[in-house]
Amino acid sequence: MIYNFDKVINRKGTNSIKWDARELVRKFGITDRFDDDTIALFIADMDFSCPQPVLDALHKRVDQKMFGYTTHLSDPEYFKAIQNWFKRRQNWEFPAESIVYSPGTVHALKIAVKAFTKPGDGVIIQRPVYYPFTRVIEEQGRKVVNNSLINTNGYYTIDFVDLEQKAKLSSSKMMILCSPHNPVGRIWKPEELDQIARICLTNDLVLVSDEIHGDLIRTNETFYPIANINQDDKIIVCTATNKTFNMAGLHCSNIILRNVVMREKFSKMMGIQMPSPFSISALIAAYNEGEEWLEQLKIYIDGNFDFLAKFLEKKMPDVKFKIPEGTYIGWMDFSGYNLSPEEVHDRIYNKANVVLEDGKIFGEEGLDFQRICIPSPRSILEEALNRISLEF
Ligand SMILES: Cc1ncc(COP(=O)(O)O)c(C=O)c1O
Repeated sequence: MIYNFDKVINRKGTNSIKWDARELVRKFGITDRFDDDTIALFIADMDFSCPQPVLDALHKRVDQKMFGYTTHLSDPEYFKAIQNWFKRRQNWEFPAESIVYSPGTVHALKIAVKAFTKPGDGVIIQRPVYYPFTRVIEEQGRKVVNNSLINTNGYYTIDFVDLEQKAKLSSSKMMILCSPHNPVGRIWKPEELDQIARICLTNDLVLVSDEIHGDLIRTNETFYPIANINQDDKIIVCTATNKTFNMAGLHCSNIILRNVVMREKFSKMMGIQMPSPFSISALIAAYNEGEEWLEQLKIYIDGNFDFLAKFLEKKMPDVKFKIPEGTYIGWMDFSGYNLSPEEVHDRIYNKANVVLEDGKIFGEEGLDFQRICIPSPRSILEEALNRISLEF
């Protein structure tokens, strides 16, 4: 089947966090202006229809006419679908019993922090990074230990000397890795992953790898799951259908944890969590039959990045931008304009009426940056960029 990602689907009035965000963006301090004319490209959420097999599976589930208490635990199809997907797509194998359901990836990170660290312990993250990492650490009374990434002309690398020093601190107990990295878009190379794993394991740090963007990479790139690079069974990997198939509202993450003792502790802290009947059906359909859609989606997203890069080069050459290796997130450096971050914000959010995310929320390393999520029909992206460019 050929999917049409150019099709604009009106999501206003559908309880969409992205398009019905009036209250939310205010509450979280993202911006004050949000009205009927706002173009929202702030949240990592796609404006495309889900794969047809997912829609069919959900219709079939509705036709069952009952949505009672539900469990995935006695359904081998659920586990097989996950295992087969990662084996096929990432050449990564793990046993069915290592899979723990979580209603969200961020929720799983919170549980991991609670299960494997104590109040006051340090948790290493690499800023600028997806800001809920900071939130889950601080809300549990743990301390953020920041191993800042090194930005060399828009290409980010890891400061391994600093990472090793911070991992050696007796207070450091965990590292949360973002792989691929949101927002800088790096897919970590096997050598980098090997070094990260080695540093964490030799210093007795629990390593949690958030790989929720692992399927969403450029067509010419390869993603490497860390658990394939280092076989230590204590590494925790977060996966989800949420991002890959635009199903975040179905809340379906699966955490892979092979170590039995750690898994028991993690599962106990997670408590009894069951996916909804819709999540189960959608996950099985997506992982078993969603590949054709994903391959077409990746080509479309590559096209959107190409469009963005060319647009910036032509109309806003002072914005420094590199097409990311992974994720559908653009990380744009506005420092070339010599404007304050507040002025940049005002021009984009208030004057152009486009909502992105100010880079500062990802850490001070992001002060001069704006994060844009581009998985929307190209016409929406074009309109947003045209509006922004008129203000610069
Ligand atoms: C790195 C990363 N982890 C987790 C999430 C959120 O995942 P979930 O909706 O499963 O909690 C996001 C969403 O943008 C993300 O970028």
